[in-house]
Amino acid sequence: MSMHSRWKSAICIASTLNFIYAVAKDSSPANVTLDVATDGGNKSSSLLYGIMFEEMDHSGDGGIHGQLLQNNGFQGSSLGMTSYAPVGDVDITRDTSEPVSEAIKSSLRVDVPENTTEYVGFANTGYKGVPVTNSTYNSSFWMKGDYTGKVNLQLVGSKSGKVYASHNLTVNSTTSQFVQFKASFNSTQSPDGDNEWHLTFDGSKVAGDSLNFGYIELFPPTYHDRENGLRDDLATVLEKTNFTFLRFPGGNNIEGLQVDSRWKWNTTIGPPVDRPGRESDWFYPNTDALGLDEYLWWCEDMQMTPILAVWAGKSYGGILSGSDLKPYVEDIMNELEYLMGDSESKWGKMRIENGRKKPWNIEYVEIGNEDDLTGGCDTYPERFNQIYKAIHKKYPDITIIASNGDKSCLPSPVPKGVILDLHLYRKPDDFVALFDEFDNKPRDQPLMVGEYGCRNTTHERGVYWSFMQGTCSEAVYMIGMERNSDIVKMAAYAPMLEHFGYVAWSPTMYGFNSSPESITPSTSYFLQQMFASNKGDTVLPVKSSTEFGPLYWVATKTDSQYYVKLANYGEDEQNVIIKIPKTKSGTLKMLAGSQYEGNLPYSVNLETKYTDIVQVEGNYTIKMPPWAIAVVAIE
Ligand SMILES: *[C@@H]1O[C@H](CO)[C@@H](O)[C@H](O)[C@H]1NC(C)=O
Ligand SMILES: *[C@@H]1O[C@H](CO)[C@@H](O)[C@H](O)[C@H]1NC(C)=O
Ligand SMILES: *[C@@H]1O[C@H](CO)[C@@H](O)[C@H](O)[C@H]1NC(C)=O
Ligand SMILES: *[C@@H]1O[C@H](CO)[C@@H](O)[C@H](O)[C@H]1NC(C)=O
Ligand SMILES: *[C@@H]1O[C@H](CO)[C@@H](O)[C@H](O)[C@H]1NC(C)=O
Ligand SMILES: *[C@@H]1O[C@H](CO)[C@@H](O)[C@H](O)[C@H]1NC(C)=O
Ligand SMILES: *[C@@H]1O[C@H](CO)[C@@H](O)[C@H](O)[C@H]1NC(C)=O
Ligand SMILES: *[C@@H]1O[C@H](CO)[C@@H](O)[C@H](O)[C@H]1NC(C)=O
Ligand SMILES: *[C@@H]1O[C@H](CO)[C@@H](O)[C@H](O)[C@H]1NC(C)=O
Ligand SMILES: *[C@@H]1O[C@H](CO)[C@@H](O)[C@H](O)[C@H]1NC(C)=O
Ligand SMILES: *[C@@H]1O[C@H](CO)[C@@H](O)[C@H](O)[C@H]1NC(C)=O
Ligand SMILES: *[C@@H]1O[C@H](CO)[C@@H](O)[C@H](O)[C@H]1NC(C)=O
Repeated sequence: MSMHSRWKSAICIASTLNFIYAVAKDSSPANVTLDVATDGGNKSSSLLYGIMFEEMDHSGDGGIHGQLLQNNGFQGSSLGMTSYAPVGDVDITRDTSEPVSEAIKSSLRVDVPENTTEYVGFANTGYKGVPVTNSTYNSSFWMKGDYTGKVNLQLVGSKSGKVYASHNLTVNSTTSQFVQFKASFNSTQSPDGDNEWHLTFDGSKVAGDSLNFGYIELFPPTYHDRENGLRDDLATVLEKTNFTFLRFPGGNNIEGLQVDSRWKWNTTIGPPVDRPGRESDWFYPNTDALGLDEYLWWCEDMQMTPILAVWAGKSYGGILSGSDLKPYVEDIMNELEYLMGDSESKWGKMRIENGRKKPWNIEYVEIGNEDDLTGGCDTYPERFNQIYKAIHKKYPDITIIASNGDKSCLPSPVPKGVILDLHLYRKPDDFVALFDEFDNKPRDQPLMVGEYGCRNTTHERGVYWSFMQGTCSEAVYMIGMERNSDIVKMAAYAPMLEHFGYVAWSPTMYGFNSSPESITPSTSYFLQQMFASNKGDTVLPVKSSTEFGPLYWVATKTDSQYYVKLANYGEDEQNVIIKIPKTKSGTLKMLAGSQYEGNLPYSVNLETKYTDIVQVEGNYTIKMPPWAIAVVAIE
C-alpha cells in the first residue's frame, strides 16, 4: 500500500517530526478545530484495550493473588527460611523428611524444649509485612505430629506486638499423616503494614518433642469470593479499567531460565498444595497458586477475553525445535483439551474434577514470547509452523498470534489471519515519533501490541514512575493505534502491577505494599482507564484546522455516544473546538498535570476529573493544558 493511500490525506497528516506549535507561540492559546463526521469511517476492533500480566515484581504472588504469606510451601530453591521466625523459645527448621505432598517437598518442624509451659510456634512475615485490615480472613495450614488441643492464629504488629486478630481452633493431629485445618476470623485495622501471622499451640503438650506444619495460607476477602482467589482490593482497581482482554501468563516468565524451569501448565492446576512451584524468570520462586484455571476465572469474573500464551520451545538456557519440540506440541494440545475438552476427554475430565464444568472459551492463542529476541529468531518459523498446524487442525476457529513482527523471524508467508504481536517500551519522544507507525501498514495483516509502556530512561532496571509527559506519549501512541484499529486488534499496557518492596521493573500500571492506603494507580492507569472505558466501535473521519502535533486526536462512536480522545504533547495550552452536529451535551474527562508530575506511593495527586459540558450548537471548546489527556464523551 502506498504512502499516501490512507491517513496522509487532506484530513490528517501525521506530523511527528516538527512541532508546529513552537512557531505559533504568542500569548493566546493556539486554536484547533476538529469537525467530526457523524457518518462513514471504519469499524474498530472490539477488543483494542487490554492488559498484559506475568508474574514479576510480585504482581501475582503477594500481589493480585490473594494469598498473603511468603514462602508458604518452601517452593523454588532461593528463599531458604525467608519470612519465618520462631514464636517463643523453640527451634524452627525446614524439614525435607516430612513433605506435605508430592509437590510440596518439605514442611516446617517446630522443636519444643523440655519444660515448656507457654504457647509457642512460628510467625510468617508475609511479603514485607502482612496487610491487616478490618475484614474477614481465611487461613489454613497442614499439620502432622501428636497434638490434640487449641491452635491459636493471630495477626500481630511485628514491632508493636499489638494483636489485631486472634482465633482459636481445636485440632486433633496425629503422627500418621498431614491433615489440613481451616479457620475464618475477623480482624481489626492495623495502622501500618508491619504485621505478621502467628501460629501457636500449647507448648506444654509438646515439650521435648516436635510438630510439623506445612503449606500455610492466609487470604483477605477475595474478588468474587473465590476460593484461592484474587485480592479483592487490588482486583477491583483493575476491574475499573474496563479492559477487554488479559494476555497471560507471560512474557519472559513463560519461557523459563532453562527448558525445565519453563512455565508448565499442568503443574499449575488442581489443589494448590499439589503445585510444586518453580524458580521464575524474575528472580524469585513462583508458587503457581495463581494457575491456569485461576487466570481463566479472573478473565471470566472481569469479563475479559483470555489471550493464552503457550510455551513454544524457547527458554533463556536453550531452544528446542524440530523433532525435539514434538512432545511439547503434544503438551500444548493437552493443555487446550484440558481447557476446552468435555467430560469424555482425558484432560477435559481433569478440568471438571478441578472445579470447572463448563469448558473455558479460548479464542486466542499466542505462540511463544518475543521470539525475535534472545536467540529465538532462526528457529521460530519452524517452531511456529509445527505448533500452528497442530492447533489449527483441531481448533480452526482459534486465532493464532505470532510472538513478534520481524519478517526474518516469521514463517513466509504468515498464515492468513495470524496476528503479529509487537512489543514497545520507549522514551516519550520516541513513542510520539511512532504515532503514524500503523498508518501505512498493509490492511490485511492484523496486529497487536502485546506490551507497551513509556520508560523514561534507557536503563533496564530503574525505579521510576509514570509521569505526565510519558503518559501523554502513551496516549499519543494509543490514539495512533485506535485510528488504525481496523488492523491493530489489541493493545496491552505492561507491566500491570508491582509490590513496592520487590521491584525489578518499573513503572507499572499500579503499585502497592502491605500498608493501608498504599494502592497507587499511576498516571498511566488513569489514561488506560479513560481510553478503555470510552471506546467506540467505529472510527470517524475528522476534518481538522491543523496537522497532528502537538495536539493528537481520534473520534469514534457507538450507537449512543461519540468519543473524541485528545492528547496535548507539548508545553503550551491548546484551545480545541470540537464540532459534532446535532449533539448538545456530554462529559469531559481529563487527566492533567505538569510535565514531570506523577503519582508516587501514598501520594495520588493526579486522577481523571469529570466535568459536564453543554453546548447548544454542537460545538465544544476544550482547553487542553500542557501534557493533558482527555476524552470528550458526547451523547
Ligand atoms: C483563538 O481563538 C480566540 C477566540 O476566537 C482568539 O481570540 C485567539 O486569537 C485565537 N488564537 C490564535 C493563536 O489564533
Ligand atoms: C525440666 O524440669 C525438670 C524438673 O524440674 C528438671 O529436672 C530438668 O532439668 C528440666 N529440663 C530442662 C531441659 O531444663
Ligand atoms: C469493621 O469495623 C466495624 C466497626 O467500625 C465493625 O462493625 C465491623 O464488624 C468490622 N468488620 C469486620 C469484618 O470485622
Ligand atoms: C485462645 O485460647 C487461649 C488459651 O486457652 C486463651 O487464653 C485465649 O483467650 C483464647 N483466645 C480467643 C480469641 O478465644
Ligand atoms: C483424635 O483422633 C484419634 C485418632 O483419630 C482418636 O482416637 C481420638 O479419640 C481423637 N481425640 C479427640 C479429642 O478427638
Ligand atoms: C465477622 O465480620 C462479619 C462482617 O462484619 C460478620 O458478619 C461476622 O459475624 C463476623 N464474624 C465473627 C466471628 O465475628
Ligand atoms: C472462607 O472460609 C469460610 C468458612 O470456612 C468459607 O465458607 C468461605 O467460602 C471461605 N472463603 C473463601 C473466599 O475461600
Ligand atoms: C505434565 O506434563 C508433562 C508432559 O506431558 C509430564 O511429563 C508430567 O508428568 C506432567 N506433570 C504432572 C504433574 O501431571
Ligand atoms: C466499566 O466497568 C464497570 C464495572 O467495573 C461497569 O459498571 C461500567 O458500565 C463499565 N463501563 C463501560 C463504559 O464499559
Ligand atoms: C478507513 O480506512 C481506509 C482504508 O484504509 C482509509 O483510507 C480511511 O482513511 C479510513 N477512515 C477512517 C475514518 O479511519
Ligand atoms: C527518570 O528516571 C531517573 C532514574 O533513571 C530518575 O532520576 C528521574 O527522576 C526520572 N524522571 C521522571 C520524570 O520520572
Ligand atoms: C458552531 O458550528 C457551526 C457550524 O458547525 C458554526 O456555524 C458556528 O459558528 C459555530 N459556533 C461557534 C460558537 O463556534
